[in-house]
Amino acid sequence: MPPTILVIHGPNLNMLGRREPQIYGTTTLADIDAALLARGAAAGVNVVCIQSNHEGELVDAIQAHGWDALGIIINPGALTHYGLSLRDALAMLSAPIIEVHLSNVYQREAFRHTSVIAPIARGQITGLGWRGYLLALEWLLAERLPANGTTQG
Ligand code: DQA
Repeated sequence: MPPTILVIHGPNLNMLGRREPQIYGTTTLADIDAALLARGAAAGVNVVCIQSNHEGELVDAIQAHGWDALGIIINPGALTHYGLSLRDALAMLSAPIIEVHLSNVYQREAFRHTSVIAPIARGQITGLGWRGYLLALEWLLAERLPANGTTQG
């Protein structure tokens, strides 16, 4: 069984491409997932992508797939700012969690400046658009499967 990296997209991210493109860009969620799957396949890693508009479904997915994952990439959407059951589900895992945001949340409304996920995340990538997900995947591959990375340490 190849190792798995779990990618979780929270509420409204299924609308990428149509949703406020001036903020989130025109790349669709299907495009992002395809790019992650392709990069994962090239590295011999199984990338599992899940999107839901419902916090409980995300908790279910984390409980089902999180334990065996090599790492987690998550854009929690607005749940970033208040999703405590999502945070608790992630906190159970020992694999590194990377929090990704398409927009730079710190340049936006004050309510977006607080993340309940950040304290349990290994790192955060914010404001780099869809490429932020791929950068998170590169880090996980380099850190967790060093033979795939360029430089260790
Ligand atoms: C987001 C930022 C959140 O504040 C917002 O609720 C989202 C998307 C981002 O990717 O920039 O849904 O996580």
